[in-house]
Amino acid sequence: MTELKNDRFLRALMRQPVDRTPVWMMRQAGRYLPEYRATRAQAGDFLSLCKNTPLACEVTLQPLERYPLDAAILFSDILTIPDALGLGLYFETGEGPKFRKVIRSEADVDALPKMNAESDLDYVMNAVSTIRRELNGRVPLIGFSGSPWTLATYMIEGGSSKTFSEAKKLMYGQPEVMHRLLDHLADAVIDYLNGQIKAGAQAVQIFDTWGGVLTGWAYEEFSLRYMKKIVAGLIREAEGRRVPVVLFTKNGGQWLESIADSGCDAVGLDWTTDIGNARARVGDKVALQGNMDPAMLYAPKARIREEVADILKRYGSGPGHIFNLGHGITPDVDPEHAGAFIEAVVELSGQYHQ
Ligand code: CP3
Repeated sequence: MTELKNDRFLRALMRQPVDRTPVWMMRQAGRYLPEYRATRAQAGDFLSLCKNTPLACEVTLQPLERYPLDAAILFSDILTIPDALGLGLYFETGEGPKFRKVIRSEADVDALPKMNAESDLDYVMNAVSTIRRELNGRVPLIGFSGSPWTLATYMIEGGSSKTFSEAKKLMYGQPEVMHRLLDHLADAVIDYLNGQIKAGAQAVQIFDTWGGVLTGWAYEEFSLRYMKKIVAGLIREAEGRRVPVVLFTKNGGQWLESIADSGCDAVGLDWTTDIGNARARVGDKVALQGNMDPAMLYAPKARIREEVADILKRYGSGPGHIFNLGHGITPDVDPEHAGAFIEAVVELSGQYHQ
């Protein structure tokens, strides 16, 4: 494999010294970029784009052509696993993801097939190895998956939800069935992420987008517990280097200490938690990734720069910070504003690493 020319991101994840704070953006390949919209139009729908290796590789690299980012993230989706389990994922224009089949009963859970990532999700593995080759050591490649709880909400609700009524009905009404589903998903995620690591992913992130809708005890029991199982089952070294794991629970700020104890290397933070305070709470256990409100990208560029400066100052000196947004960039952001955000991190963070 080609030598990595920029390893700032991997070093920061391990809390090793860097020359400046590394930066990438959740959803950095996406609809806010006109070049993404053009490639997507060529592919047809979103899922066809994910399954088209050269085009998935192209959109992964697009944000890197525009901005001095320190990591690339695989272009795919968290819902590839439920799709591979036979639920039939589709996207209706202007709406979120939908499934043809939903999981509502014990019989539905017991009928789920065992997934084999390398054959059932070969298009993802092909994308990973192709992107690695095309990156040619420029920056590291991040692989990812949804958390079992987050995947389960989509599979039970049949798509996005505001209340999570069906998922919570199963969780509170038949907790043992919910546990069976989550355990099945945890095994699938381990297989999926290890497949990505074998194909060339150099770090992995688990997106627990909906962990924050749970009560504290339920978060521990139904979400964090299965992420711990995943972390324990992952390949942690490849190509002579640690493969760091990032756990991102949106709205998980109040459970930071438990998340930091999960065995992960870094914790993703949304913008509702002060990053300086978060650092004091986790100490030297994990690195922190975050956490500017993505809506700040609607502000004037000078204001974005001020906000970046403030977050850098709150985190303070020394390693262990990966700058990111607190959640994905939204489709109506001006790409120049995203550029101003990244430029501010590049220009203002060096002073904290002397
Ligand atoms: O970060 C990246 O650039 C990598 C690609 C990526 C996508 N989805 C591409 C995508 C990643 C990491 C994801 C993760 C994902 N997908 C999550 C967890 C992250 C988060 O935001 O909390 C979730 C919950 C999903 C499920 C999903 N996929 C939803 C809810 C949607 C619809 C969102 C919308 O705004 O319409 C998707 C579609 C999707 N995934 C798009 C992209 C670029 C938009 C598809 C399009 O119309 O082109």
